[in-house]
Amino acid sequence: MKVVKTIKEVREQVNAWRKEGLTVGLVPTMGYLHEGHQSLIRKSVEQNDRTVVSVFVNPIQFGPNEDLEAYPRDLNRDMQAVEEAGGNLIFNPEPSEMYPSHFTSFIDTTETTELLCGAVRPIHFRGVCTVVGKLFNIVKPDRAYFGQKDAQQLATIRRFVRDLDFDIEIVPCPIIREEDGLAKSSRNTYLNPAERQAALILSKSLKLGQQAIDAGERNAETIINIIKTNLKTEPLARVDYVEVVDFANIQRVEKIEGETLVAIAVYIGKTRLIDNFIWK
Ligand code: PAF
Repeated sequence: MKVVKTIKEVREQVNAWRKEGLTVGLVPTMGYLHEGHQSLIRKSVEQNDRTVVSVFVNPIQFGPNEDLEAYPRDLNRDMQAVEEAGGNLIFNPEPSEMYPSHFTSFIDTTETTELLCGAVRPIHFRGVCTVVGKLFNIVKPDRAYFGQKDAQQLATIRRFVRDLDFDIEIVPCPIIREEDGLAKSSRNTYLNPAERQAALILSKSLKLGQQAIDAGERNAETIINIIKTNLKTEPLARVDYVEVVDFANIQRVEKIEGETLVAIAVYIGKTRLIDNFIWK
């Protein structure tokens, strides 16, 4: 397993693989890898001859008051995690490699980015789509892997891949949870022990929402109220949003029918956590 820092090195390696007729999977990450990322890498290893993992804390997807500086980084740990999951190459560029001076071209999306995280993080998805588009052009993978945990990101990437004719299969992968239900996230490392316990309110509240839908409730407002009421029982939790939207377009629905995303964002102390489920 190799680590490279430049676009030229990635291209040379991928071209060599292509000459041998090998297929290539890409797992874009911001590093500090956990079992959620490893499940994406394993899926790629299963479906492709070679797997590239990008480890890059992308500055342009963080707003001015967000956690760019504090975001956890540990390349040695990431190398072990990629090795363990069977990945072949880590691309770990410096910001200047990805964003040369006078960088002024962006992939901007509408519709799927209006609500949920897009409503409160105005430049976030422009940054995500731009870096993912760049990674697609650098690696030119056959398939790319994204977790359902970032469901709005997944829907948005699917949309720009379709709209802009990227010839890449987007493979969605399920949320990986801790044994007690907390969705795995690099940001969980920010939580102190009391907050870690309090964070369970996210998955527990979603479960109540899911149970209500399974029992036949189809009114989105009722589901939102069930989830919000339960979230409010946790004193360390502050609700950012609870939304019920159609998964393809990320637009609000009144009635739950078709593929529906129930998504929440909640501050536990200063840490903003997201979680969701998709009802089909
Ligand atoms: O999901 C993430 O970790 C990031 O948003 C991504 C897709 C790697 C782009 O920086």
